[in-house]
Amino acid sequence: MFIRNYKKAATIFSLAATLISSSIVPIQAEGADTTVNWTREQVSKIELDESNTLPYTDIKKLEKMTPDYHIWDTWPLTDRDGSIASIKGWKVIFALSAPSDVLPGKVHDIATIRYFYSKNGKDWTFGGELFPAGTALGSRQWAGSAMTDGDRIYAFYTATGRENEERVTFEQRLALATGNIVADKNGVRFEHWDKHRIILEPDGKWYQTLAQAHQGEGGGYAFRDPMWFQDPKTGKEYVLFEGMSGGSVSERSCKPEHASSPEYEAPPEAVHQNGNIGIAEVIGDVEELEMLPPLVEANCVNEELERPHIVVKDNKYYLFTDTHINKYSPGLTGPEGLYGFVSDTLIGGYKPLNGSGLVLANPPENPYQAYSWLVLPSLNVVGFAHFGDLDGMSISDIGHQSPEYQFEHWGGTLAPTVKISIDGDRTKIEKELPQGWIK
Ligand code: FRU
Repeated sequence: MFIRNYKKAATIFSLAATLISSSIVPIQAEGADTTVNWTREQVSKIELDESNTLPYTDIKKLEKMTPDYHIWDTWPLTDRDGSIASIKGWKVIFALSAPSDVLPGKVHDIATIRYFYSKNGKDWTFGGELFPAGTALGSRQWAGSAMTDGDRIYAFYTATGRENEERVTFEQRLALATGNIVADKNGVRFEHWDKHRIILEPDGKWYQTLAQAHQGEGGGYAFRDPMWFQDPKTGKEYVLFEGMSGGSVSERSCKPEHASSPEYEAPPEAVHQNGNIGIAEVIGDVEELEMLPPLVEANCVNEELERPHIVVKDNKYYLFTDTHINKYSPGLTGPEGLYGFVSDTLIGGYKPLNGSGLVLANPPENPYQAYSWLVLPSLNVVGFAHFGDLDGMSISDIGHQSPEYQFEHWGGTLAPTVKISIDGDRTKIEKELPQGWIK
């Protein structure tokens, strides 16, 4: 059952943890005094209420974006400064996709970026594959971002695995391809792509390599989801991404910076949680990046801070990320949700929004209804419909159900958009908007 008061569960676990832990050293990205750790104490404050809990969505009533494809992680074409681009009046969105007869659990293994365009930001026409078949790097492509300057598109994506591999592997590298945008009254297309290139790989110090992760005997791995960002205060440009703190598990030990009282100390198994939010600065052409220490780490707290992105409002930097119920460390509980941090500076100083970090959560009665939320500059939040009405079943059990059951409970399309408001370090759900509304 879904626990509404996370504090209680956390207290029980942390009392047990106090008995076990003794000589532990703090961990933080080596050589960085700007990296902030999202702490167990903050996460223990997560509570669902009307300011952060989404209304129930009946995913069966949602329209498919196209009958032929499932879609999930979605992002808009933006201008260099992050505002939604208008190309001869057309908006464009990109989405990870897979043919609609593929089982939901298998879609990540064959993810391909496809796009849609629209005049009103609501009725989307399917445009097909973004890249010519066989040109993208990786055995499949995971989430990214897309920025336009003039008639050029800079398409960032995650190259997952290697081209032509026989078995699916999980290496992840950040890739870029540039091409031309052609728009006329009939729609939008992309052509004359340059050769795709890898623009960033993990360094092993601030960001874990796959080899280091394997020394921890598997579990999740992440170095993905490149997101373009131009700092309006300085004009400097960056790529944010999802990573994991560097080193192998045996090199880590837990004591989050703010574990001020033993009540919040981490159990030893929490060394397996090392999600972080990475950043690299553009130092020449768009593809020349210099890696910087992570903005936020969730060491001993959470192992996946997905699709990080920043919205600047009232001179403050709002850093958002998504995570899943099952990515929290033992002793901590949080919903499938959108989380956020705020700082007066781009680098350093991030504090969790609303005390805990939680911004949006699925309702307890439908805990997997949506995911992969992205906050647009208008504060409209776009996500995709994930799994609905599972009747208490956990997401890890869905794969054991019949194909009919899996298809029936899977969304694979855009969810209703949600508008949030932000006031300093507080956020609130304002209202639900139509499905797939991008504005
Ligand atoms: C979020 C996510 C992304 C990744 C993609 C893979 O839903 O896990 O981090 O790029 O899905 O399909």
